[in-house]
Amino acid sequence: MSQAWKAYYDEHRMTAEEAVALVKSGDRVINSHLGGAPLPIIDAMIQNYKAYENVEISCMLTSDGIPFAEEQYKDHFHMNPWFVSGNSAKALAAGYGDLTPSHFSEIPDLLRTSMKPDVSLIQVSPPDEHGYVSLGISTDYMIVAARLNKFRRLSRTVIAEVNAQCPRVFGDAVMHVTEIDAFVESDRPITPAPVTKITDVERAIGGYCAELIVDGSCMQMGIGAIPDAVLGFLDGKKDLGIHSEIIGDGVKHLCELGVINGSRKEIDTGKVVCTSYYGTEALYKMVNDNPMFELRAVDYTNDPRIICKNSNVVSINSCVEVDLTGQVCSEAIGARQISGIGGQVDFVRGAKMSPGGKSIIACYATAKGGTISKIVPTLKPGTPVTTSRTDVDYVITEFGIAQMRGKSLRERAKALIAIAHPDFRDELRSEYKRVYGWGL
Ligand code: COA
Repeated sequence: MSQAWKAYYDEHRMTAEEAVALVKSGDRVINSHLGGAPLPIIDAMIQNYKAYENVEISCMLTSDGIPFAEEQYKDHFHMNPWFVSGNSAKALAAGYGDLTPSHFSEIPDLLRTSMKPDVSLIQVSPPDEHGYVSLGISTDYMIVAARLNKFRRLSRTVIAEVNAQCPRVFGDAVMHVTEIDAFVESDRPITPAPVTKITDVERAIGGYCAELIVDGSCMQMGIGAIPDAVLGFLDGKKDLGIHSEIIGDGVKHLCELGVINGSRKEIDTGKVVCTSYYGTEALYKMVNDNPMFELRAVDYTNDPRIICKNSNVVSINSCVEVDLTGQVCSEAIGARQISGIGGQVDFVRGAKMSPGGKSIIACYATAKGGTISKIVPTLKPGTPVTTSRTDVDYVITEFGIAQMRGKSLRERAKALIAIAHPDFRDELRSEYKRVYGWGL
């Protein structure tokens, strides 16, 4: 067997400082996010910031050690992500950062067309004996940008952190070392997701969501306290499947119990399919070298035309506000962007097209310590609508389930007021009459 790849790997192994010298002023750089972020490379770019002018950075989340959006770097890095969080939300609000709104499923297409990357920063596992590495935490848009496709690739330069602790996974995650220009070796734990705290409120929301999940459902849910609470109610179900954007530790227990087995999935039968893992070391160990788990590119996992090939899809996502006609904002407080669209609409639409599918928007009834109702008569001026009232299906709070699909405006308003916090129900009723002109 040829060992030519080893010579190639050795020639292209370098320090992070050497690798980031391959990034040039004016480049568009894209990087993996969450636990997949190649932190030593990002850190070296930050240390070297004075060498760069007008480097555009695009990625999804910028939490977890991705500081390009901090104000002190604003003359060197320009943040133009597809989702804002933490420092990138601040950069946008302060006027030196930007945001390109996009469905998560469409980012690979943007990379092929209007947002061609110059440099891709990825994190991979060490090469196997054949010279293949794996993007073991997150493939999403990065695999599309970094991998040779018909002997062309989208990025001029691909820089990889080769982390001895990065899992090797199956699916669209594999690249050959000769597709990568620079290797920076590391041996560090993958960044874990924050620990979630499940209170009675999340348990109540989770219990209502679980009522809509039947044996054989194929689930998409994010990470955090509400999804974890939902998963806590599913021990007694059978033959559940996962086709998701991201999975966290919550699914581990159900996979071990055999409740999640994917046996009734029409595509990827028997497989747990998603585009990112984000959890603890236990999750990363479970997916390592485990053929039951596949990471796929986001233009596969999130394409509604793919999602709906499985029957009984149940998608669960959250929101900031819902108005009394069912319009959902999941990304801003008024015009102040605090988050992004992510895969919410991809999965709402995929679930709608799936035979027997249901999409759920699950949220707390109130925010800010109970002082604000998340169910509102109208969205404030400037508020973006993430999921339209024609796409929305179920809305769930700790007070119950409201179905929107096929319901009239009056029926929607009544159903939503019934799941609002009791302290706000009278006010919502009287505001509804004042704003819309007819009573309930
Ligand atoms: N009015 C004012 N503030 C509100 C609010 C409202 N209606 N709703 C939430 N907030 C505030 C909260 O108080 C909190 O502020 P704090 O951090 O200062 O305490 C902040 O907004 C986040 O709210 P929280 O309820 O903790 O949100 P979350 O962490 O559960 O996230 C979304 C909710 C909607 C932001 C999140 O689900 C998201 O980003 N969704 C969009 C994309 C998506 O659905 N993706 C799924 C697949 S990627």
